[in-house]
Amino acid sequence: MLPQKRGRIPSRIAMNCCWKVLAIFLLLLPSALSLQPAQSRVLLVSFDGFRWDYIYKVSTPNFHYAMENGVHVKQVTNVFITKTYPNHYTMVTGLYAESHGIVANEMYDPILNETFSLNKMDTHNSRFWEEASPIWVTNQREGHKTGAAMWPGTDVKIHGFFPTHYMPYNESVSFEDRVARLIDWFTSEEPINFGLLYWEQPDEMGHILGPENPLMGPIISDIDQKLGYLMSELKKAKLWGVINVIITSDHGMSQLSSERLIELDQYVNRELYKVIEHSPAVAILPNEGKLDEVYETLANAHPNMTVYKKEQIPDRLHYKHNRKIQPILAVADKGWEIVYNKSDGFQFGNHGYDNILPEMHPIFLAVGPAFRKNATKEVMNATDIYPLLCHLLGINALPNNGSFNAVKDILAEEVPVVFGADTYATIVGVFLGSFLVIVFIAVFVKHFIFTQLNTMQVQHTEAAQPLLQD
Ligand SMILES: *[C@@H]1O[C@H](CO)[C@@H](O)[C@H](O)[C@H]1NC(C)=O
Ligand SMILES: *[C@@H]1O[C@H](CO)[C@@H](O)[C@H](O)[C@H]1NC(C)=O
Ligand SMILES: *[C@@H]1O[C@H](CO)[C@@H](O)[C@H](O)[C@H]1NC(C)=O
Ligand SMILES: *[C@@H]1O[C@H](CO)[C@@H](O)[C@H](O)[C@H]1NC(C)=O
Ligand SMILES: *[C@@H]1O[C@H](CO)[C@@H](O)[C@H](O)[C@H]1NC(C)=O
Ligand SMILES: *[C@@H]1O[C@H](CO)[C@@H](O)[C@H](O)[C@H]1NC(C)=O
Ligand SMILES: *[C@@H]1O[C@H](CO)[C@@H](O)[C@H](O)[C@H]1NC(C)=O
Ligand SMILES: [Zn+2]
Repeated sequence: MLPQKRGRIPSRIAMNCCWKVLAIFLLLLPSALSLQPAQSRVLLVSFDGFRWDYIYKVSTPNFHYAMENGVHVKQVTNVFITKTYPNHYTMVTGLYAESHGIVANEMYDPILNETFSLNKMDTHNSRFWEEASPIWVTNQREGHKTGAAMWPGTDVKIHGFFPTHYMPYNESVSFEDRVARLIDWFTSEEPINFGLLYWEQPDEMGHILGPENPLMGPIISDIDQKLGYLMSELKKAKLWGVINVIITSDHGMSQLSSERLIELDQYVNRELYKVIEHSPAVAILPNEGKLDEVYETLANAHPNMTVYKKEQIPDRLHYKHNRKIQPILAVADKGWEIVYNKSDGFQFGNHGYDNILPEMHPIFLAVGPAFRKNATKEVMNATDIYPLLCHLLGINALPNNGSFNAVKDILAEEVPVVFGADTYATIVGVFLGSFLVIVFIAVFVKHFIFTQLNTMQVQHTEAAQPLLQD
């Protein structure tokens, strides 16, 4: 009897211990096995009209500091038309303009018989925005919080949502105030995971001066100082190196000249049509029954203006399948401007041209724990920014025209968020778990054999007892 007891007591202790370890393991298993991307925080910054090569025109130490600490994509193909509202909505939807519906800064919807105008700040009609759902709507539907400082469309109710925090558009609010609000939102008790920051320059001065004007130097330096201010405020708030920051823009800028004006009045009577969106990609709405007349007179009017009927617009522009795209589109060559006549106001810079032109392309830098350091990539599509953002935020991307695969090489590891630290935890978890299960089974089998042996021995003893009693 004594040898058997000595065998059973240690196995009971082992069983007890094993149960506890198994229970702890089972509790930890879900988090170890979780393949959810780490939900990182992201700040998306747009300096309107910051052309990709402005960083080479004057000393821009803060841009270069960000480049050395992050990724620089040299050419970003934005979407046609290369204007502010279409491209800002592309960044937050991943869609071409024809698919997200913000097809221009100035629009007319023939079904609603309603207009949309950036010039008149008449941009709050939800129906113009609701062909798509911007990323903040998805972010909030998935339980997160967004903060937006003046990003186009963020003070409009879209599918029932405003960003969790937003600032009603007001051009006079300083850059510093916009940054302060964002930092408050990122550091509050219920922090945002996604921030959007918009600044009107250097676009405005680019229009007034022209991008080749030496006076653009100080304007670009000022943006560099603003980026420096943003980085220093993020450092003070202990957010630098913690959040992922993407610094980009909507489009570039082309130099104009009073020698390169195309005057519509020389070719066609102004009474026959309306101009909806302005130069250099002019959206023309002919009067009832005047489509062919207006088209024919403009089609071969000027060698530096290409005129399309809507259905002829080349597929590569992805600018056809939307009712807000007008029946005639007249696009000027780079550096040319389309006006009614020479008395129209003249500006020295403009954008809106074919998105194939490098001059229309924006800057793109990405800095933060998710990104490679001191790395460059040659080209990407602006439509890829959206799937990249969704990946970083750990939210589901809606159907879009971008590709996460096309940009995942700018991330710090092959697929760092999904299979980064989590994979390590998973491997350790699975290994440890398998080990514990094997130990558990071994101990259980051992225990079972001992129990069986004991029972047999007890039975044997009991069976033997009567004989002994006898
Ligand atoms: C469209 O709206 C304008 C006023 O904004 C109105 O004058 C015009 O008659 C409307 N057109 C149609 C077809 O309803
Ligand atoms: C816009 O911001 C400026 C500067 O903060 C402020 O003085 C002005 O009242 C604001 N305008 C509106 C309409 O809120
Ligand atoms: C303007 O048109 C002329 C004649 O077709 C052409 O040679 C020139 O390259 C055009 N300019 C631009 C900027 O495309
Ligand atoms: C040019 O257009 C303006 C208005 O846009 C008009 O007042 C003027 O008469 C036009 N000039 C000529 C020469 O047609
Ligand atoms: C960044 O890379 C360049 C070469 O690609 C190198 O000259 C430079 O020293 C690097 N800077 C840092 C901070 O690693
Ligand atoms: C950009 O998008 C087009 C159309 O999807 C694709 O053919 C092209 O390869 C993309 N470019 C890059 C650099 O990913
Ligand atoms: C862009 O994406 C939308 C949504 O998935 C789709 O409907 C559309 O056909 C796509 N456009 C192109 C050119 O693939
Ligand atoms: Zn502009």
